[in-house]
Amino acid sequence: MVSLPQVAVVASSAILRFAAFVFLRWIPGHHFVPLISTALVVYLSSLFALSRSTGDKPVADRKDSKHPQNDPTRTPAQGDVIKTLLTGLPSASSPLATRFTTLVNIVLALLAFDFLLRGHVLYPANDLALSRIGYVSPTTASLLVREPDPKQLPLVIFYQDETQEDVSQWVEEGAIYALDEATDYTTTVTIKNLNPGSNYRYSLSNNHTGLFTTAPLPGTQSANRLSFLTSSCMKPNFPYNPLSHPLRLPGIEKMTEAMNKLPSLFRPAFMLFLGDFIYIDVPQRFGSSVSHYRSEYRRVYSSPSWTASQDSPAINLPWIHTLDDHEIANDWSKGNTTDPYPAAADPFVHYHVSVNPPIPPMPFASPENTTYFSFIHGPASFFMLDTRAYRSEPAQPNSTILGSAQLQSLLAYIARPEPAEVRWKIVASSVPFTKNWRVGTTDTWGGFLNERRSVFEAMWRAERELGVRIILLSGDRHEFGSTRFPDPTLGLTAQETLPDTAGEGLHEFSVGPLSMFYLPIRSYRQTDNEDVAVKYIPDGNTKYGLIDIDLRDERVDTPSGKSVVVSSSVLTYSLYVDDDVVWKYSLSVPLPGFEAVAVAANPPSRHPLLPPGKVLEDKTDPDSWDIMVKTAIGQVEDVVRGILRQMTDIRDRILKAERLD
Ligand SMILES: *[C@@H]1O[C@H](CO)[C@@H](O)[C@H](O)[C@H]1NC(C)=O
Ligand SMILES: *[C@@H]1O[C@H](CO)[C@@H](O)[C@H](O)[C@H]1NC(C)=O
Ligand SMILES: *[C@@H]1O[C@H](CO)[C@@H](O)[C@H](O)[C@H]1NC(C)=O
Ligand SMILES: *[C@@H]1O[C@H](CO)[C@@H](O)[C@H](O)[C@H]1NC(C)=O
Repeated sequence: MVSLPQVAVVASSAILRFAAFVFLRWIPGHHFVPLISTALVVYLSSLFALSRSTGDKPVADRKDSKHPQNDPTRTPAQGDVIKTLLTGLPSASSPLATRFTTLVNIVLALLAFDFLLRGHVLYPANDLALSRIGYVSPTTASLLVREPDPKQLPLVIFYQDETQEDVSQWVEEGAIYALDEATDYTTTVTIKNLNPGSNYRYSLSNNHTGLFTTAPLPGTQSANRLSFLTSSCMKPNFPYNPLSHPLRLPGIEKMTEAMNKLPSLFRPAFMLFLGDFIYIDVPQRFGSSVSHYRSEYRRVYSSPSWTASQDSPAINLPWIHTLDDHEIANDWSKGNTTDPYPAAADPFVHYHVSVNPPIPPMPFASPENTTYFSFIHGPASFFMLDTRAYRSEPAQPNSTILGSAQLQSLLAYIARPEPAEVRWKIVASSVPFTKNWRVGTTDTWGGFLNERRSVFEAMWRAERELGVRIILLSGDRHEFGSTRFPDPTLGLTAQETLPDTAGEGLHEFSVGPLSMFYLPIRSYRQTDNEDVAVKYIPDGNTKYGLIDIDLRDERVDTPSGKSVVVSSSVLTYSLYVDDDVVWKYSLSVPLPGFEAVAVAANPPSRHPLLPPGKVLEDKTDPDSWDIMVKTAIGQVEDVVRGILRQMTDIRDRILKAERLD
């Protein structure tokens, strides 16, 4: 006979083990800790009830188990032990197995608490001393400094040319006399009057030191090339490893290692990080005050991963940042004055905005509170969007993701002719432009399709008229997806807009996480010919893109089957998973003087100037069985969501009918 406590033991043990596995290795969702704790309480109390009830009926028990205690030659039945280890049920023949299976459940719950709490409790990071370089122009570098120890003041800042060996040749940039709680002991120093395209070393009187390289002088040979990194989303020590430092970010270490292997010419000039830097609400939000938000930034910057590499530490790479929801609260769309936005904005401004690039020349808003940015670096001009602070409720006909000031500023930027050496406009958004992600679509540009349409129309026009190519970069989805949005005036055929094809159109590359979970189900799928899937690579806890722009001779195939050589600016996107390139794609813009060749090479119905993209390398295996299974699961999800939506619709209609009555 199966008793109620037996059922409770088996069920709670199974739930606890499965939940702990998912929480520690797959997705650190906030539901899991309460679930694991409850399962443990139910498990231990049912176990206790079970031992009491068997204790009440010793005679019956002994009859069943043939007096095990009185028979020294008897060994525990193997089947019984395995059953105990698997189900969590007590074993009649082996008290050791019972103890072990109980211990496994207790340890799993403790590991979950360790993941949740160790970093938080042991590392308030109040004494963090930090220095990092943010935005670098041809002649300036922005340095963020945090120093809470008053004994280190005044803090003097020096710099010198990196090749300079003579220590007496340090240039003194200035001194910081006061730092206080108002800015969480941070301040910004702009090092000025630097030479373009040069390597420098800086040093502070608290012994912090680092290296940086200034941007190239516009119009020079070196301004034709640029390489930079992009990614998003990180949370320390995930997937959880009990032996690891609780603040370790393995993704940063893998990326640094991979970049340090590149020849110095190809090393990235900066990291364009597209949000979800602190992940305040995963696995658990501990508070919503300014001090909570500040402590999360300090903890991330206290990670040993920033300095793990001896010769070229990660902290030397300049990072520039956009805002996303996990810097505030999940799927944030409540504006820039509702709580907790003001508390969340405080450290975002002190730690990130303060050393970010400048705001656009035409911000259409008060400069002091503008959180979108724009700059030119070599062959590319950038616009970094804030898709969180100014957005309205999604999925309404008049929903705005940018707010009117930012939208005007972006449209002015898109329509602006660029200096001759700039051939790329790169628009960075925390959330993807494509609606091909079928989970949480309305939190992306998929919830703001009317605004997306106006932005795309401006971009297609700019590509036709300005001789530049526009690239969209985004993050947020914990997956890699590249999508193209063909200009409808090109009239591409159904054949040319098939899923998983390289080709023409405005291209988006969305990548993440740098160090975080990825979904075990497939959530990206092409559904029409507006958003054409180029490539989808969901797996990997560490994914980032390296973008490299340089001048090169490109072969363009003419309709007659011949190929011509067109001198071009070529952008190569390399997707890294961990420390390997798994996919590489290139796009090009013909240089002035070669447009005629390019036009002759392309059939008249095509874009006169911008040749289709090309896959250069693909190490993924689309036919592996696990990908097919996960795709099927993803589609089941889609169907279930569709049914739920229908049910909500029906419910809403009934409620509306009732109200009308
Ligand atoms: C900086 O380093 C020097 C030489 O190693 C040492 O004498 C000095 O005490 C250090 N200063 C601080 C603030 O750590
Ligand atoms: C909020 O955004 C608006 C523009 O949409 C801006 O005018 C205002 O200054 C911002 N407020 C804060 C507190 O940042
Ligand atoms: C900018 O934001 C601060 C609060 O963060 C607010 O007090 C101030 O009024 C804002 N300025 C403008 C011009 O909106
Ligand atoms: C959209 O329209 C509704 C109803 O007319 C209005 O209440 C809302 O404020 C509008 N939203 C925006 C972002 O303009």
